[in-house]
Amino acid sequence: MSILTLKDATIKFGGLTAVNSVSFELNKGDLFGLIGPNGAGKTTCFNIITGVYEPTSGEILFNGKRITGTPSNKIAQLGICRTFQNIRLFQSMTSLENVVVGGFLRHKTVLGSALCYLPGAIKETEKLKLQALELLKLVDLDDVANTRSRDLPYGKQRRLEIARALATQPQLLLLDEPAAGMNPNEKKELLDMVKKIRDELGVTVLLIEHDMKFVMNLCEKIFVLDHGEEIAQGPPSEIRSNPKVIAAYLGEAV
Ligand SMILES: Nc1ncnc2c1ncn2[C@@H]1O[C@H](COP(=O)(O)OP(=O)(O)O)[C@@H](O)[C@H]1O
Ligand SMILES: [Mg+2]
Repeated sequence: MSILTLKDATIKFGGLTAVNSVSFELNKGDLFGLIGPNGAGKTTCFNIITGVYEPTSGEILFNGKRITGTPSNKIAQLGICRTFQNIRLFQSMTSLENVVVGGFLRHKTVLGSALCYLPGAIKETEKLKLQALELLKLVDLDDVANTRSRDLPYGKQRRLEIARALATQPQLLLLDEPAAGMNPNEKKELLDMVKKIRDELGVTVLLIEHDMKFVMNLCEKIFVLDHGEEIAQGPPSEIRSNPKVIAAYLGEAV
């Protein structure tokens, strides 16, 4: 069953068409890769899916309902959550606190009353803490629950961001270059973790990644963008040998 559909999605910034008539579909439970050279329009696709920008034309459907033009906070509440190309953690908060903050998005009223220490809210906050600990276990960070996020090594910070995104209980998780800057060990851990998120939590994953090997090993379907346009989509075996894909990556360090 379809969870996300882009139909001829297009966005123009002045004279530049950053995404040009892009169409693809994710089914529930997919591990779907979005790849392409630098400046191809990948992050912009995330921005139009998550309501950061409204597409100039075309449509975006989530669970069959049109979400084009819906503000980003509403889209997050509907069940789409993302991480960013550059780490955006609350640096002086602990790992646990970072994930609890993610959970507040689901329980918006709690945040206000939690700040006033109302009894019901304290109970809710305790619940969120327990959920946050479970998520930290899932991403193998429970041993650093009380460490400030700025003191974590890079690979762990990236995993923490994913745990925080999961605290919103998304149906669809968008990851923007999660393996960027990681060493081979960290990449391997990340790959296993993303698989676990899909297999154990049932979350559908759309992932932008520059590391071809990583994408080919993880994703079951891949969409290739170049200069804002589709050049190929299909399973990794087809993408790998597609001449247009190879040409687009020539001269790129992949
Ligand atoms: N807000 C914006 N205003 C103007 N141009 C933008 C904006 N966002 C992205 N672009 C342009 O759109 C193109 C695609 O960018 P981006 O989606 O970030 O590429 P990728 O993530 O594939 O590297 C680039 O040429 C970029 O400069
Ligand atoms: Mg990008």
